[in-house]
Amino acid sequence: MTEAPQHEEVLRVEDLKVYFPVKSRGVFPRTVGQIKAVDGVNLSLDRGETLGLEGESGCGKSTTGRAILRLIDPTAGHVVINGTEVAGMSRRQLRPVRKQAQMIFQDPYNALNPRHTVGAIIGAPFKIQKIDPPGGIRHAVQEIMERVGLNPEHVNRYPNEFSGGQRQRIGIARAIALRPKLIICDEPVSALDVSIQAQILNLLQDLQQDFNVSYLFIAHDLAVVRQIAHRVAVMYLGHIVETAPRSVLYSEPMHPYTNALLSAVPIPDPRKQSERERILLGGDLPSPLNPPSGCVFHTRCFIAQDRCRTEVPEMRTMGPDHEVACHFPITQPLKGGVIHGPDPGLTAPLPGEQGYWSETVTDLGGVGTSRLDSASSTDEGI
Ligand SMILES: Nc1ncnc2c1ncn2[C@@H]1O[C@H](COP(=O)(O)OP(=O)(O)O)[C@@H](O)[C@H]1O
Ligand code: SF4
Ligand SMILES: [Mg+2]
Repeated sequence: MTEAPQHEEVLRVEDLKVYFPVKSRGVFPRTVGQIKAVDGVNLSLDRGETLGLEGESGCGKSTTGRAILRLIDPTAGHVVINGTEVAGMSRRQLRPVRKQAQMIFQDPYNALNPRHTVGAIIGAPFKIQKIDPPGGIRHAVQEIMERVGLNPEHVNRYPNEFSGGQRQRIGIARAIALRPKLIICDEPVSALDVSIQAQILNLLQDLQQDFNVSYLFIAHDLAVVRQIAHRVAVMYLGHIVETAPRSVLYSEPMHPYTNALLSAVPIPDPRKQSERERILLGGDLPSPLNPPSGCVFHTRCFIAQDRCRTEVPEMRTMGPDHEVACHFPITQPLKGGVIHGPDPGLTAPLPGEQGYWSETVTDLGGVGTSRLDSASSTDEGI
């Protein structure tokens, strides 16, 4: 991980909502519902900082990233990039902002136009922004290629002549070409082999050092986020449920969902792994078309109480830079195993009360009875 960032805000997102209308069929389609993909997200990012955005597939991470860069239009909310509100801007007004903010996509196979040479792909941002770099575009492109670990002599080759990792380097080169302040990285290593993943993460970190760029780093893989992020935001069904500095989030997760995510990360030590319990969430991610009332996590939460069904939990500050949206944040390490179905019942005791954890768990279904505590999920280099 690179040095701690400076306090110059590059991105601020306030109450961002992205709803996709669902239309009826027929000659005169009507809007019959809204898919609430992103539902009131707040984020901020400083210069040179990496904020990891974490959550299971379908929770709204990509939609958040795309709405920030206006690849899709937000339904409501504010997006301030480098001091400029972009949420209501026209395409023409957005053009100078695109110099400051770029995106790296998950799939290096589909993200590059197969009919364009690498030179044309990496050089495109200069042309779009009408920038004539010293020495010309081709020279600038070859310099960037070298910087990202590509052979500059391959400038006239086509994407299909490169491996997956090299194609992602091309995507990174295109994103970094104009030295933006912000890059949204949407699962940039998910499609790559583990050994290649490490190289690409290292490259991103090196570029951050060189250019002081900020990353919003989207990933469903906690181990990847852990390697690169300074801070982490955990997302569930369109909402941010917890944000914390990286080390705090991994050692003292307070939201039940974060605890469940961390408990699923394998530990390299087979003995500890076999002793360790997992929190198994019941059911699937609910549909954002009809999200649960109150706390959207209540249908899968293993400590839900009556109140959770009706009252939306506000984001609460629980420590320096540590915020949690939960009525009953977990403030002590979990002990004992838990498995719950989608409807957890409403009699579970609170942390610290008699019957909490060890006494509530009677049948672990062969999962094991060891602890999920901060040590098991942080000291093993996940
Ligand atoms: N263009 C769209 N139209 C309708 N629904 C969409 C669209 N894009 C995404 N969604 C829905 O929004 C939710 C969030 O999707 P996405 O942001 O891709 O999640 P993630 O990146 O976390 O996997 C999903 O339920 C997805 O099906
Ligand atoms: S508010 Fe209630 S349902 Fe939501 S995460 Fe907290 S305890 Fe679970
Ligand atoms: Mg996605």
